[in-house]
Amino acid sequence: MGFVLILLTSLLSGVLGYLRCKYNYWQINGMKQLRAHFLFGHFVKLKSLHLSELLQETYEAFKGSALLAGSYIYLRPIAVVLDLDLAKRILIEDCDKFVDRQNSCNETLTDNLFNAQGEEWSKLRKLQAQIFTSGMMRKNMFETITKSANNLEERFRELVSPHGCVLDVQELLDCYSMDASAKCAFGSHINSLRDDQLEFRVQAQKILRNSDGNIRWRLFKLYYWSILAKLKLPIQSHDKNITEYFRRIVKEQMELRQLGNIKRNDYLELLVGNDLTLEQLTSQTFELFVSGYETSSSILTCALFELAKHPAVQQKLRKELTIILRKHGQLTYEAMLEMRYLEQTITETLRKYPALASLIRITAEEYTLPSAPGDIPLILDKDTIVHIPVHAIHYDAEIYPQPKLFRPERFDVSNCLQRHSMAFLGFGAGPRQCIGQHFGRLLIKIGLIQLLAQYQFSCVPGFPDELPINKGNMILRPSQGVPLKVMRLSE
Ligand code: HEM
Repeated sequence: MGFVLILLTSLLSGVLGYLRCKYNYWQINGMKQLRAHFLFGHFVKLKSLHLSELLQETYEAFKGSALLAGSYIYLRPIAVVLDLDLAKRILIEDCDKFVDRQNSCNETLTDNLFNAQGEEWSKLRKLQAQIFTSGMMRKNMFETITKSANNLEERFRELVSPHGCVLDVQELLDCYSMDASAKCAFGSHINSLRDDQLEFRVQAQKILRNSDGNIRWRLFKLYYWSILAKLKLPIQSHDKNITEYFRRIVKEQMELRQLGNIKRNDYLELLVGNDLTLEQLTSQTFELFVSGYETSSSILTCALFELAKHPAVQQKLRKELTIILRKHGQLTYEAMLEMRYLEQTITETLRKYPALASLIRITAEEYTLPSAPGDIPLILDKDTIVHIPVHAIHYDAEIYPQPKLFRPERFDVSNCLQRHSMAFLGFGAGPRQCIGQHFGRLLIKIGLIQLLAQYQFSCVPGFPDELPINKGNMILRPSQGVPLKVMRLSE
């Protein structure tokens, strides 16, 4: 009995000593850190992936007193950047020392540029950079997206009665983004706005549902992926059926084109001939499809919600669109480029609702942080996970006064010039910044132009003033339908 008690006591003190050491990693290395619970660390603070309370709290606690502070996700130390000059060094100036993101799941649908590392990333990035040019947007994508936006407007015309009605705009915008992205990625002609049982729509919606779920489990998978992979546990980020479905879509499209000697204006066509296997073609085209579908439809929904809340902004934007459309006679790529206030509105939406709450980089080698003369320089170990807390920066009142207010004027040229170049990180920065940003912006712009030119949007009484956000999703998404009152404008 006495022996068991001694054994248990030693075991317990061993575990507590180990945790104490783990939860003081940053302090031991001379850096500031949020005090962690002796047993649970910051487990209880892991409440929402997108709003990322943990990063926000660290940023607010130490900003101004250090360049970087530490925190913990489970037992893994994470560094939170608090200074925009340091963010610039990490993302741009010293980017060769911060090349990769965290290694997560490695399976067909996630084996893509976002998750790629080292040499593989460099090869893929070069290939995709040749494809995602403004010429490609103008020549290959603009017309395709405009056709999907016309379908969206047609659907609105059917649904909106002469006295107006309440519509769940999120659902309709999901369908628009899905149709446009599917056509641009694999050349699939679908009209999910008209058929809610369409197999493509059902499979694509599973992807969004897949992204929901318990945030603590999702973070555990992300941070301990290498261990879970070694244990060969059957953990996948996408259902096997979804992978199979999209592999089949790509295979069928390839066969169809080879048989009929057909050329298409889509991403698949541009990738073929670059020595990629069927698996690689599936993962690359799937990446465009999902990013276009999930991210752009969410940003579009958030933009319409804010415009409904701010009728004066909506009115100003509509005035700009109407004048430019009248001048050009119709919506053209050139007309769209002239719409400066539209650009500002989208950027302000991305400031308030950044798709990713933080940018993640891993140190490729030991990294010495800049220090004042005479101070002992602080060093980040190799393989340290570094977070640049985009959400916290975008809501920093010293950078954006009254950050909860929606004001596209923050992004007119004179205001932008007064801010640090890292103050807006909606698409990231440096060599790993978003490669699909022009495509994403194009989808959002065309959707907004089509709707705002013909409909007025206003809020529905009783709906929350702040848009409820899905807490478990990696990418920002409103958490439930977004109902808005829609009125047709007089001709
Ligand atoms: C409005 C829509 C979009 C937003 C807000 C957005 C945002 C972002 C952000 C914040 C990053 C991280 C950048 C960094 O770490 O510095 C990123 C990376 C990336 N995005 Fe997007 N994205 C959008 C649309 C798209 C689309 C349509 C694609 C389609 C191809 C795409 C493909 C990627 C890829 C491949 C990366 C990783 C790039 C790399 O590591 O080299 N994104 N995106």
